[in-house]
Amino acid sequence: MPVNLTSTDEIKLGGAFTFPGTSMTVHRMGYGAMQLAGPGVFGPPKDRNGALAVLREAVAFGVNHIDTSDFYGPHVTNQLIREALHPYPTNLVIVTKIGARRGQDGSWIPAPSPEELKRGVHDNLRNLGLDVLDVVNLRSTLGIEEPAEGSIEAPLTVLANLQQQGLVRHIGLSNVTPAQVAEGRQICEIVCVQNHYNLAHRTDDALIDDLARAGIAYVPYFPLGGFTPLQSRTLSEVAQHLSATPMQVALAWLLHRAGNILLIPGTSSVAHLRENLAAAELNLSDNVLQELDAVARTKASNAA
Ligand SMILES: NC(=O)c1ccc[n+]([C@@H]2O[C@H](COP(=O)([O-])OP(=O)(O)OC[C@H]3O[C@@H](n4cnc5c(N)ncnc54)[C@H](OP(=O)(O)O)[C@@H]3O)[C@@H](O)[C@H]2O)c1
Repeated sequence: MPVNLTSTDEIKLGGAFTFPGTSMTVHRMGYGAMQLAGPGVFGPPKDRNGALAVLREAVAFGVNHIDTSDFYGPHVTNQLIREALHPYPTNLVIVTKIGARRGQDGSWIPAPSPEELKRGVHDNLRNLGLDVLDVVNLRSTLGIEEPAEGSIEAPLTVLANLQQQGLVRHIGLSNVTPAQVAEGRQICEIVCVQNHYNLAHRTDDALIDDLARAGIAYVPYFPLGGFTPLQSRTLSEVAQHLSATPMQVALAWLLHRAGNILLIPGTSSVAHLRENLAAAELNLSDNVLQELDAVARTKASNAA
């Protein structure tokens, strides 16, 4: 297994997944663009050409699923995507999200009102240079770090209306509870759910299995631990044994976890991008999967 890739490597990127009720098929290994904005996901990147290179490399290696939002920067990440990739390859699926905005100081502010949601869709269209958005996730801000219960009917109905107007093809949900997914599915077709999940943070195990049965994509954010990168002795030992890196093992574990999991690891580095894409080639045996399962159990008992 290559720990890194060269531009001539042929990679499968984890196989294909078709979003339910759509003709949109993507490789399971995608790319999350949040890290391309400046520090704190605010302002321009330190290395603008480097950011453009990451996006172009991702697509050159076959990535056809990019996750973004107009509140990354704000506007910066979408403008970089447009500059690097427009006119977009026909098979590229860009998934964005609305429901928050940024303060002058970089703070994250809930933006669930109808006006703010409409503005969010139009900001994404303008900055990405699109007439219609492939997938828009409603990002619940009832909870900021983790989902919190409460009805999502009002904001989701606004988004469903924007879909009926032809500005949005498909709808997903982010930072939601199983009850909110069930409520959302009564309002409109939900093609994906994007929540915090990784090897050490497994609150959504049952939800992932439910969504798999319904054919709905589950897209973990912070697959590598986000702002607090995953660290575990087991992960490091397994990685060493497989001649891979801990981050590659963490991504491969997610691909093995369930067939409806789509990956969007974030990076601002071409070297890390290549390393992450190569993780799709990593096979994990049943024994290794059992060892890795213990990472979450250890974390749970430490927290108890
Ligand atoms: N819906 C939501 O509320 C929500 C919230 C957060 C994120 N997201 C989405 O999810 C995507 C993924 O999340 P994320 O980017 O926050 O977190 P992540 O993918 O878990 O981790 C990104 C961090 O890991 C580092 N990294 C990446 N590849 C690495 C490698 N091979 N070796 C060592 N370090 C590596 C990155 O630094 P370098 O830049 O130095 O590589 C960055 O600091 C985002 O890009 C965004 O699109 C959604």
